[in-house]
Amino acid sequence: MTELSFHNTPITNTAINNAPMKNDLATSGPVTSESLNQAASADRVLDIRDLRVEFDRGGEPFAAVKSLSFHVDRGATVVIVGESGSGKSVTSLAIMRLVAFGGGKIVNGKMLFRRTDGTMIDLVETPEATMRKVRGAEIGMIFQEPMTSLNPVLSVGEQITEAIILHQRKNAQQTLREALDILDKVRIPDAARVMRRYPH
Ligand SMILES: Nc1ncnc2c1ncn2[C@@H]1O[C@H](COP(=O)(O)OP(=O)(O)OP(=O)(O)O)[C@@H](O)[C@H]1O
Ligand SMILES: [Mg+2]
Repeated sequence: MTELSFHNTPITNTAINNAPMKNDLATSGPVTSESLNQAASADRVLDIRDLRVEFDRGGEPFAAVKSLSFHVDRGATVVIVGESGSGKSVTSLAIMRLVAFGGGKIVNGKMLFRRTDGTMIDLVETPEATMRKVRGAEIGMIFQEPMTSLNPVLSVGEQITEAIILHQRKNAQQTLREALDILDKVRIPDAARVMRRYPH
């Protein structure tokens, strides 16, 4: 770990300036559904507390994110800035609970998230079946490298409609309409033709 540390300044809780938390669960023992619901004001959407994410590097744990805390309130835009390798992507992947797919492990912390129905869950402990409902519907991520993060054998249209089909009960025609609307909204010219093309 030490030989890597000069390349890497892991994000720490001092890196993100944050207002004091209104309620602190840290001293209140195990998280129960009741304590989760009391955890934050109604406009607290995400509350990351003391997050630590590690990877295995040749048998040694390497902390890509160390003791990170920040929160996001409804309507707020929070920007995380840091040098390359400081843990921005790993933080985002942890919130999506996708970090394990790259061999990472959330070893400490809470990631309290307010679902669209108003209930609070801890994303660290949420069962995978629930995560599949949350991911892509309630939390989205735009991945950094389109060439590697999009599936090269699926058309643009198929990749957009996949999420709509998974999360909303709509027929094929409505789904296509919605995908076209999405492309129009972001001003992609000739959306109908783009839908049939491939990401590369
Ligand atoms: N799958 C992985 N296996 C091992 N180490 C990883 C993995 N993914 C990221 N890391 C390490 O975690 C640290 C944080 O990486 P991360 O990708 O989060 O940085 P970043 O802040 O997003 O950088 P950039 O600005 O270049 O996108 C780096 O040291 C990186 O090498
Ligand atoms: Mg990154």
